[in-house]
Amino acid sequence: MPSIDDILVSYNDKAPLSEASTIPAPWYVDPRIAELEANSVFSNTWQMVGRIEQVEKPGQFVTADVAGEPIVVVRGNDGVLRGFYNVCRHHAAAVVTEPCGQASILHCPYHGWNYGLDGSLKGMPEFDGVKNFDRQKNGLVPVKAETWEKFVFVNLDPKGVRLRDFLGGLVKRVTPLGVSKLHYFATRVYDMACNWKVFVDNYLDGGYHVPHLHKGLNSVLDYKEYTIENEDRYCLQSSLMVASEEDKATGATRKGDRAWYFWQYPNLMINCYEGYMDTNLVLPIDVDHCRVIFDFYFADVSEAQRAYNEQSVAVGARVQDEDLGICEAVQRGLKSRAYGAGRLSVRREAGEHLFHRLLAAALKAGEGTIVAAAD
Ligand code: FES
Ligand SMILES: [Fe+2]
Repeated sequence: MPSIDDILVSYNDKAPLSEASTIPAPWYVDPRIAELEANSVFSNTWQMVGRIEQVEKPGQFVTADVAGEPIVVVRGNDGVLRGFYNVCRHHAAAVVTEPCGQASILHCPYHGWNYGLDGSLKGMPEFDGVKNFDRQKNGLVPVKAETWEKFVFVNLDPKGVRLRDFLGGLVKRVTPLGVSKLHYFATRVYDMACNWKVFVDNYLDGGYHVPHLHKGLNSVLDYKEYTIENEDRYCLQSSLMVASEEDKATGATRKGDRAWYFWQYPNLMINCYEGYMDTNLVLPIDVDHCRVIFDFYFADVSEAQRAYNEQSVAVGARVQDEDLGICEAVQRGLKSRAYGAGRLSVRREAGEHLFHRLLAAALKAGEGTIVAAAD
């Protein structure tokens, strides 16, 4: 079996796009790489965990799993949004057990310890007589939480840069699109039998697969004019829109002059059309499974618009079904003895090249290091 080092050095991240290959197959199928990614990709990047509207009022919370860590983000009575490891300081049970909701106190269901919305330990039943126990030091362990546009993010790395610095140039590209005026409508969750990076690669192939795999979507995009811009930790793929007679549902629900497809390293996509946004959050489950969460937003979510919005979600679901089958086929192919790595299209696959180089840099830097929680 090759060492992790051998696997990492088998990718040349210095090659220009015209000479570059994809990251090699073992990066998608070796559980040791998945473990390394949990520490050096998902433990030190800002990860989306919810929507701002879910945590607007004091006591409102969302829970999430980030790099295998249970996390809760909760709005305090003072209006401050705080993140914590959702791990009871008594015997490690999850304190908050709902995906989202509202509470006046965080109450552990196991032995009834209570924490304030600021994470401080408020009370422990039947704990009289316990010596050398400092209640002040037994609050929930904090984790960084910040918001941007409609979204709530956390970062497990206490030394991580601010969210806006992490997002870098993405901020100035997304803000003019006015996504803050859109309203959440629906979520669709897909469990896929492929490594999370297969889904990201598929997204970042610059529309290469669109005419072949997504005939409906292809009918509204000006494929030849598709542009790809790499900057910082994001890639913007964009296309002029054309009117579609071929596919009425797609034509009716994918409107405007331009389609905007943003990918932010490592695992977030934001897709915008006029009056429309969906986000795709790609979560690794294990080395050959991932979960992709699609959240759909529209300009108008009134009852009168419901049928239209549902039709729009259905168009998105059809595209995703087409992607799902191909991503699972790719994962099977990556395990084949016939495959090692593939070359990249200079015209189309610059985004994938950026992703692979960012990932390689993170894995090479992160080998042997583990991000510790704040104490
Ligand atoms: S584990 Fe939470 S009170 Fe015991
Ligand atoms: Fe696709």
